[in-house]
Amino acid sequence: MGKLTHRFKEKFAEKRTKFSSTILSMRGAKRVPKQPKSRSVVRAGLRSGESVRVLIPHARVSARLRQLAREIRRDFPKDRLHLIGVLKGCVFFLADLARELGGEVSFDFMAVSSYGKGTASTGEVKLIKDLDVSIEGKTIIVVEDILDTGLTLKYLLRLFEQRKPKDLRVVVLLDKVDRRIVDVRADYIGFTIPNEFVVGYGLDFDERYRNLGDVCVLQFDSRATEKSE
Ligand code: IMP
Repeated sequence: MGKLTHRFKEKFAEKRTKFSSTILSMRGAKRVPKQPKSRSVVRAGLRSGESVRVLIPHARVSARLRQLAREIRRDFPKDRLHLIGVLKGCVFFLADLARELGGEVSFDFMAVSSYGKGTASTGEVKLIKDLDVSIEGKTIIVVEDILDTGLTLKYLLRLFEQRKPKDLRVVVLLDKVDRRIVDVRADYIGFTIPNEFVVGYGLDFDERYRNLGDVCVLQFDSRATEKSE
């Protein structure tokens, strides 16, 4: 084998290993490399039978947020942006995004329930807390943690459109495109992720793991589940 071919093969093999441990996102083509367990995972208190794998480290989330903020501001350079956070998963995302946006920003919160205690949607969306102030004539950016089946966002958009905002846009941190059952899409997307249940950076499982800095995939140890049954 020639020296060059040999070197090419070595390089290619190296690249292939790198890419095979990489999850490719679709829109915005963000690469989400697999990460080792981080310190924040340890701090967030893992329960026995549950484990987490870092999908998007905090630093990548922060970097992407800065890009999203720039995109949004570019679209509305002069407007006061009224952010509507969908509780509770949006809290860190909204807080960090608001600080990156610059210009005039105000915010309000909405709470809906679509998930019970588990990892599967009930398919039913209920309004738990409405907005404090009117959105009529305002430039609204709905801030959602994750777009899954799309039911929650569809419900919210229908509600907000009736209230006559000047503009209505949606920013989501994560988009699980494969899970969509209704036709709805976000205008700004942080990362497109595979169909896995994720926690951290505001996202929870049974109200736990919101305080992880990284976005992580939650995994259940089947042996532990069997034992506890
Ligand atoms: P959708 O109505 O099915 O699109 O679900 C949206 C809501 O479900 C999100 O705002 C989250 O609160 C929750 N959700 C969906 N997928 C996940 C996940 O992987 N981890 C945590 N919460 C999730």
